[in-house]
Amino acid sequence: MSVREILKMGDSRLLQPAVEVCDVHTAEIKMLVEDMRDTMRERAGLGLAAPQIGVSLRVIIFGFKDNPRYPDVAEVAQTVLVNPEISVLDASLVYGWEACLSLPGLRGRVPRFSKIRYTGFAADGSRIEREAEGFHARVVQHECDHLDGVLYPMRMDDMRDFGFEDTLDL
Ligand code: NI
Repeated sequence: MSVREILKMGDSRLLQPAVEVCDVHTAEIKMLVEDMRDTMRERAGLGLAAPQIGVSLRVIIFGFKDNPRYPDVAEVAQTVLVNPEISVLDASLVYGWEACLSLPGLRGRVPRFSKIRYTGFAADGSRIEREAEGFHARVVQHECDHLDGVLYPMRMDDMRDFGFEDTLDL
């Protein structure tokens, strides 16, 4: 439908917890999901959360094939997740580099749980339940954080591993 503007870090709307979706089957949600898909595709992102386009609802999308920014990453199907919930299956932390469309040009090394189960609802209302590890688990944790007003630098424990993509020695 349309490519939306992505809010950047510093915008207080990114820090607000998002609200649960009561009914997936509305025109509003259908349009939101389409706009999120268009916006993510246009910006070549791997994931996007509704608050990033200024909509305070618990909706995320993610998915990727081969992405030059993340070589050696297994493909994850394009997924819409409404009212997602995460339970931790393995609380050991793994560190990995992340980027975010709300922090253009930047990257940081972020600790995440190594294995999770996530649940939620697809755009057609069907229930999704999956286990994920590695980069897949990282992306889901990153996107769900957006729904709680958390940006990835807030998860970092060593700010020396934070900088501009074109400058960092990765
Ligand atoms: Ni993000």
